[in-house]
Amino acid sequence: MREEGITIERWKHANLKTGSFELDLILSRVTGRSRAEIVAHPQLKLSENQITRLNDDLRALEAGTPFAYISGKKEFFGIELEVSESVLVPRPETEILVEMVLTLAPKNATLLDLGTGSGAIALAIASERPDIKVSASDLSVSALEIAKKNARLLNLNLTFFHSNWYQSLPCRKWDLLVSNPPYVSENDPHLDALKKEPIEALTSGRDGLDAIRQIVSGSHDFLNPNGHLLIEHGFNQSEAVGRIFMTNSFENILSTKDYSGIERVKLGKFNGG
Ligand SMILES: C[S@@+](CC[C@H](N)C(=O)[O-])C[C@H]1O[C@@H](n2cnc3c(N)ncnc32)[C@H](O)[C@@H]1O
Repeated sequence: MREEGITIERWKHANLKTGSFELDLILSRVTGRSRAEIVAHPQLKLSENQITRLNDDLRALEAGTPFAYISGKKEFFGIELEVSESVLVPRPETEILVEMVLTLAPKNATLLDLGTGSGAIALAIASERPDIKVSASDLSVSALEIAKKNARLLNLNLTFFHSNWYQSLPCRKWDLLVSNPPYVSENDPHLDALKKEPIEALTSGRDGLDAIRQIVSGSHDFLNPNGHLLIEHGFNQSEAVGRIFMTNSFENILSTKDYSGIERVKLGKFNGG
């Protein structure tokens, strides 16, 4: 069978074992048409070149590559970010942390995003609140390159640091420290489904809490008095993270739930003592 000239409908029908939603995403990317057009015009013909590209994308999806790595793009909090396999694909639940910052941050606050990856959190905040002076750091040089590129593309002015958490930061303090650190346990069976994403962005020791312990315990030297620390954590880590905040002298500790009603972000105030 010559494939040239087959319709969208026929190509979808031949590949139905992949979900219709995913098929529409790659059809939209390869044809340059919107998803609505793809759905509304199933009789449109595909060229041979388009079919080759569609089949390549399909193979990548079937091998577990997230669509964001195939398209090279991900929408987060209303901004479009470039992503590659050097960075975690920004997740919708991380938007909760951004919303908390936007509610909490006083005018002209200073903020540092630790482990910025694609720059998702830092850039979303900078785009919503031009008054906030945003800095961002990561240990991964290739992640920092992506974050800097995203800042340029979005025309946002951030300060970037290459640092192993606090180790190479300048000697200064911020009003808000925020982080979505790696928090998956090294033995978590869910890691199989995440094998295309950088492991250093995902796991953090046996209980998944090593990075959170380091970020909380090291925060005092980098937070202004009455400054706040906000950290995203795993669905089953709320109690443990709350204890880490308490033993490190944080006050007014609060948790925020995700859209499924699970506590996912911890907030604490540093009394400066
Ligand atoms: C879960 S990802 C979060 C990325 C991004 N903030 C987001 O929400 O999409 C964690 C990030 O922490 C970075 N990271 C891991 N270990 C680090 C360390 N020791 N110091 C600084 N950053 C680190 C990883 O490179 C990765 O970009």
